[in-house]
This record gives sequence, structure tokens and C-alpha cells, in this order.
Amino acid sequence: MTEASVFGFETPPRFTPRVFKGIPVTGSRSAEELACKHGASDLATFAMSFPEEAYVIDVGAGLSPFGNEVGAARPDIKWVNFDHSYSDPGILEDASRDAPANVEYVAGDATKLNEEYEPNTFDAVYSYWLMPHISANDPVSAARIVRAMFTVAKIGGLVSVGPRTVDANNPQGKSIRVMNHEGMDVGFLTDRIVTHTQVAESLRHLFQPQYPNRKVTRSPYLNSRRRMVR
Ligand SMILES: C[S@@+](CC[C@H](N)C(=O)[O-])C[C@H]1O[C@@H](n2cnc3c(N)ncnc32)[C@H](O)[C@@H]1O
Repeated sequence: MTEASVFGFETPPRFTPRVFKGIPVTGSRSAEELACKHGASDLATFAMSFPEEAYVIDVGAGLSPFGNEVGAARPDIKWVNFDHSYSDPGILEDASRDAPANVEYVAGDATKLNEEYEPNTFDAVYSYWLMPHISANDPVSAARIVRAMFTVAKIGGLVSVGPRTVDANNPQGKSIRVMNHEGMDVGFLTDRIVTHTQVAESLRHLFQPQYPNRKVTRSPYLNSRRRMVR
């Protein structure tokens, strides 16, 4: 697979204010949407893409319905929802309500994923909207997370991390998908994934309303009647 096909460097989409309508909130994305973000045409096609008895993890799954719906469609696979927020019993209860038996909820820190699981464990590692703030605010931890994902993925397994922020102003994109293979330059790929999942400085403030010293100001990108939080 060439670098261009891995990262999908097509013509970069032009910036559109559309992104400001969709401030992501944990659990706000449907399973179907996440399947499409990870490259499938729909949820059913996504669920059928796994080999029999595949072992799959979603890192930073939060309250997402993704694992539960895929797990229900494919009772033969084992799916792990991994998130540090599951150490809160209330969040764990909300997230795991109605979970099928083949979906497990694990509380843990993504930077230590490689300490939780043996190398070469998962047929597929998925992650959506875990990286953008970490990649932008703390690239060292972000790199640790991506490296850990490659470590726990099987050789021949898939690592799919998103959203890819083509110009950092468009964070709602599809995931960056890489097949883990022998001899792969993990350092280079990790670096590229961290770079290409960073959310722009302007959007960082918008997506973190609790950000200290914020003040409302005009966005340089939006028309004069739209405002954003900085
Ligand atoms: C914006 S939510 C994304 C949820 C889901 N993947 C989606 O796309 O709807 C990000 C999740 O990452 C989790 N998270 C952030 N940092 C983490 C870390 N270091 N280890 C594990 N989970 C983390 C948060 O608890 C939160 O549930």
C-alpha cells in the first residue's frame, strides 16, 4: 500500500463552516456513521468484513453504540470497548446497558494499551475522536497511543484511526487506515497519524468549552454573523 493510498491524499476538501454544526459529544455518533468513517459503505457491510471469531478493540469508545451493534450482528466475534471513563461506574453502566455477551468493557488508559494487551492480539483496532485533542495538545502521548495500537494489532490486522484532519479545520473526516505488516516503518506512520489527526488551534477551543480564559470572538473563517469560542 502506498503512502498516498494509506492517507488518502486526494484533493484536500475546501474548508466549509459545516464542521461547526457538528461539535462531537461522546455517544453522539451512530454505529452506522462510525462504520462509514472507518471505510465501510454501511454498518452491515462493516460487520461482515471480519474474519470468523475476530478479536476487535475500539479505543476511546466512550458511550458509542458501535461495538454493541456490531457485536449483536456478529455473535462469533469478540469486541472490546476500551475507555478510561469506564472507571466511573455510572458511565460504565450507561455504556454497557443492553450490551451483547460478546462485547466487553475495559477501563484503561490508551497510552498503556500495550501494557493491557499482548502484542499481536487484535484483528482490528478502531478509534474515532480519541486522537484530535491529544494529537494537538500532547503529541508525545498521542504517539504513545498510536504505537501501542500498532503493537497490539496482529500482523495483517487493521489499525483505523480517525478523524483525519486534512487541513486541521475539517475534523469530521474518515479514518486513516493502515494494515499492520512486517517491516512497516511504525515510527514514520505514527508520526503521520499524529500530525494528520490534530485539530486546529481555532477548533481546539471550540471543542473544549471548558478551556481556561476563553472568550467569544469572531472566527476568521466564518461569516460576520457566526461566532466561535476561543
Ligand atoms: C469524543 S469521545 C469519542 C467516542 C466515540 N469513539 C465516538 O466517536 O463517538 C473520546 C473518548 O476518548 C476517551 N479517552 C480520552 N483519553 C483517553 C485515554 N487516554 N485513554 C482511554 N480513553 C480516553 C474519553 O473518555 C472519551 O470517551
